[in-house]
Amino acid sequence: MYTEKVMDHFMNPRNMGEIENASGTGTVGNAKCGDIMRIFLDVEDNIIKDVKFKTFGCGAAVATSSMATELVKGKSIEEALQVTNRSVMEALDGLPKAKVHCSLLAEEAIHAALWDYAQKHNIEIEGLEPPK
Ligand code: FES
Ligand code: FES
Repeated sequence: MYTEKVMDHFMNPRNMGEIENASGTGTVGNAKCGDIMRIFLDVEDNIIKDVKFKTFGCGAAVATSSMATELVKGKSIEEALQVTNRSVMEALDGLPKAKVHCSLLAEEAIHAALWDYAQKHNIEIEGLEPPK
């Protein structure tokens, strides 16, 4: 049911934890399954220097959080914005249909953290929508 990469990121999550005084944090949840995901970003000179996540949720939510942090780490804000639930799923070699929404949570959490960063620093990030 799950790919090896999903299992790997579930068993050995990368970048789990939190960042104190993060430049931006984003928390999102899915009302149906009740899972919650929080992303912490450390941004310097438009580059995501560090990123951590805390996820209270299913195995796929943990794996997608972990992969999403790997995909945005060291990237510019513009590059991080290109990371979608699709790219996270592709990087994990796919997810079962019932678990696609878990990857959406990862995309939303990154966007919410970027939005928080933009608000705090009074900047505008082109193409970034406010969190729902
Ligand atoms: Fe949490 Fe099934 S609802 S594992
Ligand atoms: Fe809802 Fe995974 S089951 S985030």
